[in-house]
Amino acid sequence: MAEDRVVLFVHGFPLDGSMWREAIEALPPGWRGLAPDLRGFGGTEPSAQAAYSMDRFADDLAALLDAEGIGRAVVCGLSMGGYITFAFWRRHRDRVSGLVLADTRAGADSDEARRGRLDLAERIRSEGHDPVVDAMLPKLLSESTRRERTDLVERVEAMMRRVAPAALSAALLGMAERPDATPDLASIDVPTLVVVGEEDAITPPAEAEKLAAGIEGARLVRVEGAGHLAPVEKPEVFGRALGEWIAAVG
Ligand code: MLT
Repeated sequence: MAEDRVVLFVHGFPLDGSMWREAIEALPPGWRGLAPDLRGFGGTEPSAQAAYSMDRFADDLAALLDAEGIGRAVVCGLSMGGYITFAFWRRHRDRVSGLVLADTRAGADSDEARRGRLDLAERIRSEGHDPVVDAMLPKLLSESTRRERTDLVERVEAMMRRVAPAALSAALLGMAERPDATPDLASIDVPTLVVVGEEDAITPPAEAEKLAAGIEGARLVRVEGAGHLAPVEKPEVFGRALGEWIAAVG
């Protein structure tokens, strides 16, 4: 599949590249994982734009591949990382050898979701991280993860609090204006894996089913006991699914 045996991991909102630690460790021998922090995330400097579009993030990733001398990569995006992966596919598909779409959706925001993002962005500007932590932490992890894995709850909250507030607002505005990627699904002609946590409250399994049905030959894996962050909550299951899929198509 790939002349460059590289997986480019794209994190979700409001997280950072460290969410992929276990997934990188699970890659088959000979494969390299690259998990950058998107602009303003993970303690990196935010840039001045009021909105970070998914296209802008995708172009940042293409520039990273250039800087690393990588021609093509498997692109693996979770949630917002999935929205960015669709933008990457639209703009840089010659750089894509395979796709992994984790806990994400193809559709654009509803009017209500868009209004919710604009309100949250506004509140972040005056109140900082708290509104985003309060709004998202309960929804990111499954009920059992929240109950039994306080270490993961703390890890995820720490990631959220590392993001520059300006980047939180700019990414929310970027997500609000993203286009519907549904029309792109039929154009995807590289091996594709779709993964979803059974208890994902943000992008539920029905969304993953739509993705898998729309992409020819896509494999769908449902992760029991995981919420929106399957690679963090059930790293052994996610890692096995990724490793087996790469071995089958790589
Ligand atoms: C994410 O995990 O990246 C976000 O929940 C995506 C979203 O808010 O649509």
